[in-house]
Amino acid sequence: MDINLGQERLHLRFMSDHGQMHAQPEVGLRPDSPASPSTGSGAQDRGSAWGYLPATSFRSRRAALSSAQQQTWERRWPALGVDALGASPHRVPLDTRAWFGRDAPLVLEIGCGSGTSTLAMAHAEPHLDVIAVEIYRRGLAQLLCAIDSANVTNIRLIRGNGIDVLKDLVTSNSLSGVRVFFPDPWPKVRHHKRRLLQPATIALIADRLIPAGVLHAATDHPGYAEHIAAAGDAEPRLIRADPRTDSLPISVVRPTTKYETKAQDAGSAVSELVWRKPKSDD
Ligand SMILES: C[S@@+](CC[C@H](N)C(=O)[O-])C[C@H]1O[C@@H](n2cnc3c(N)ncnc32)[C@H](O)[C@@H]1O
Repeated sequence: MDINLGQERLHLRFMSDHGQMHAQPEVGLRPDSPASPSTGSGAQDRGSAWGYLPATSFRSRRAALSSAQQQTWERRWPALGVDALGASPHRVPLDTRAWFGRDAPLVLEIGCGSGTSTLAMAHAEPHLDVIAVEIYRRGLAQLLCAIDSANVTNIRLIRGNGIDVLKDLVTSNSLSGVRVFFPDPWPKVRHHKRRLLQPATIALIADRLIPAGVLHAATDHPGYAEHIAAAGDAEPRLIRADPRTDSLPISVVRPTTKYETKAQDAGSAVSELVWRKPKSDD
């Protein structure tokens, strides 16, 4: 069932609301990556093992960092961030245990923007480790500054394409959750192929989720909501989750971001789409 935050906010309740790292995750090249079933690279690869994976679901945006952001970037990025731009299918999966310094359920958020939801949700669930993936450097810098001020310790950042990260840096059955909030809707029909959440992306996510793991997407674009709903429902390794009755390993309570407020002001309803990977005893 799609959940409309605007209408069900109260009813559902869940809507209300150093130094250098010892072991920087190894993202160097190696001949064979167990994280990827494919051996090709680039555009060709995107059309093979997983089906069609969009190469450019993002717009090119450049914005200089302020001097405070630049200083924080220099101080915190080496320990908290990984640059995976142009990731190759042969990269070594992340050693998240070394990166976070503990073993905890792992959540990947793709397209975190400036990280408002990332920070609030990670703060609310300190028992989870959260990796925020974004192409836009300024967004990551904003999140890094917020992490620095709030002293939140369970977030790490990757600059790169979320699809490459899923394919190359994350192994099968390793994620307790994948979050995709307000992915670019690419409303024109000729651009639909650029949408991040395609059947192949959802198949890849399903593979990376642990049993009971959750895919949580939100969008204010009705056409994209239908597209995501159809792709998620068609994925045989996922079933719809009802957060009111299902016990989920991660929360689906999101804060309302600036982006979402703008959408609501423009009269758009927000669709929440939540699936889980069944456990063997389901
Ligand atoms: C509309 S914004 C939403 C940002 C944020 N999730 C929010 O709710 O405010 C979509 C973001 O996804 C990022 N993005 C799009 N495709 C991506 C991809 N394949 N990998 C990583 N980030 C991506 C864009 O750079 C952009 O910042």
